[in-house]
Amino acid sequence: MSSRPRGLAILGSTGSVGVQTLQVVRTFPDRFRVVALAARTSLSSLRAQVEEFRPRLFSCGGTAEEKTPILSAGSIECGLDEMAADPDVDVVVTATAGDAALAPTLTAIDAGKDIALANKETIVMAGRQVMRRARQKGVSVLPIDSEPSAIWQCLEGEDGEAARLIITASGGAFRHTKLSDLARVTPEQALSHPTWSMGPKITVDSATLMNKAFEVIEAHHLFGVPWDKIEVVIHPQSIIHSMVEFQDGSVKAQISPPDMTLPIQYALLYPHRVYNENIARFDPVAAGSLTFEPWEPDRYPLFGMALDVGRRGGTWPAALCGADDKAVEMFLAGRIGFLDIGRVIETVLEDHRNVPDPSIDRIMAAAGWAKRRAEQAAEA
Ligand SMILES: NC(=O)c1ccc[n+]([C@@H]2O[C@H](COP(=O)([O-])OP(=O)(O)OC[C@H]3O[C@@H](n4cnc5c(N)ncnc54)[C@H](OP(=O)(O)O)[C@@H]3O)[C@@H](O)[C@H]2O)c1
Repeated sequence: MSSRPRGLAILGSTGSVGVQTLQVVRTFPDRFRVVALAARTSLSSLRAQVEEFRPRLFSCGGTAEEKTPILSAGSIECGLDEMAADPDVDVVVTATAGDAALAPTLTAIDAGKDIALANKETIVMAGRQVMRRARQKGVSVLPIDSEPSAIWQCLEGEDGEAARLIITASGGAFRHTKLSDLARVTPEQALSHPTWSMGPKITVDSATLMNKAFEVIEAHHLFGVPWDKIEVVIHPQSIIHSMVEFQDGSVKAQISPPDMTLPIQYALLYPHRVYNENIARFDPVAAGSLTFEPWEPDRYPLFGMALDVGRRGGTWPAALCGADDKAVEMFLAGRIGFLDIGRVIETVLEDHRNVPDPSIDRIMAAAGWAKRRAEQAAEA
């Protein structure tokens, strides 16, 4: 393994993936240098991170006064694009929620940086554009998300095309909730994920299965697998993170306890597999039965709608992401009910005017429009 520590810019360092990424850095201090950290509102967490990891660059929201303690720790403030292109950065970790990572990801690719990709919206909104540019620039897009990581790990060392991808889903917080009770579920209940501890947006997206539709769209773009060869199955234990069937019928599965440390470490240390005492081991006897079920269309109506949008391409997926982002935000704020998330997204999509083969500016504009339209739809 190369002895030069890899320079990291971590966008979203105070969130669930960001914090776990820094834990991997702590475990392997000789292999990484933290060059840049970015957050939005969690200034006390960011300050503690800056004091510990001493990045040269940081980015966050807040007033000048609020930022003073971070500046006094010796870091220089800059924008996400600037840190993504910084000469000391080798890998940009995209761990922001929503669409904030798209522009800096493209900047990083243009500057020849590898991308450790946690943020799903980047690929859902602009998968064709991002992957095309990454190929042109010869940079790697290394998935951190556990399901794409599982597919990537299964495909490693294989030649020929995969016959089928089988992406697993826990089913989220309401897998057993009576359908007639879904209208009354609370944000607190939606945030109580049965197997994973994650940020609020992705946890609600797991309850609607929007998250799984995002992963199908991601898998299509990341691995170039046709839509009709990607399936989703409910696997409540979240032990098998996905499976790949090959042409001869053999199926490989990636198995590990539900913990993001392994996929984060795999992306950052790729192609090396390295011992980490913090990674829990799979115990087949303790795990007991691993079960699978079909997903119920009546329980997860957003899943089919989102997949249809992903297949259409253009600015449709950006409108979907913008509408979902705003609808989930309003649900978490108690402004709309759980079932209103679908109603709001459907209204936004009905009004969307697609732009085929869009530029990145058009994609960002579609997401921005969808957020504004979602606000109006919620009030209607
Ligand atoms: N959590 C998981 O296990 C997991 C697994 C797979 C994929 N993902 C994906 O990874 C992404 C992050 O998920 P998460 O669960 O870690 O989210 P999260 O806990 O909500 O954290 C989001 C992070 O992004 C920061 N942020 C948000 N907007 C920003 C902006 N405009 N500029 C700079 N920083 C910004 C937040 O800063 P503040 O804290 O200051 O607000 C926070 O650090 C999502 O796209 C998610 O779908 C997550």
